[in-house]
Amino acid sequence: MTSRTTPGRILYSSEQIAARVRELADAIHQSTEHVATKADPVILLGLMNGALVFLSDLLRAMPATAHMEVHCQNLSSYKGTSSTGTIRGLESLPDIFAGRHVIIVDDILDTGFTLHNMRDRLLNVGARQVDVCVLLDKKVPRTYDIAPQWVGFEIPNLFVIGYGLDLDGAFRSLPDIRVIEEN
Ligand code: IMP
Ligand code: MG
Repeated sequence: MTSRTTPGRILYSSEQIAARVRELADAIHQSTEHVATKADPVILLGLMNGALVFLSDLLRAMPATAHMEVHCQNLSSYKGTSSTGTIRGLESLPDIFAGRHVIIVDDILDTGFTLHNMRDRLLNVGARQVDVCVLLDKKVPRTYDIAPQWVGFEIPNLFVIGYGLDLDGAFRSLPDIRVIEEN
């Protein structure tokens, strides 16, 4: 019989994540509420599929009155536990970002390649402000320049799964964040 034990050790439990996501939602709301209006809402741009779970929790932790709009962009750059150095999905941005304040929401910041390129692309199509919110920030020497405004947790150089984070498509549905490779 094959083992069905959940792999890895827990780094952050679902309760710890939920508490931190509420704090992030409050912080984002506080810093955007004076500028966002019904006619000019802030755009939360989730990078799929990694940010799927985080984005949906973050969104639901915002006050109902917050002027926010949600968009998702499908990107991929990882194969196994290392980055491929190319991003698929940047070419096909919809034509809605010109003049807008965008907050990119992603699961994890590693080399910075994904977020650096996404930010550049948004500025190139005329976004007036691009901020970044990540749940996890890996403390590794950053290859690409990017400084997120909001970070859930800073973590060492580990490969993690769960809460939307995957290993070749598996384990996204785990409610907590687990470490499967200690680098
Ligand atoms: P970067 O482009 O090197 O910064 O990598 C960022 C992307 O790689 C994230 O959006 C994730 O989708 C993925 N990634 C990086 N580290 C991990 C990890 O530890 N587990 C799962 N996915 C990861
Ligand atoms: Mg990703």
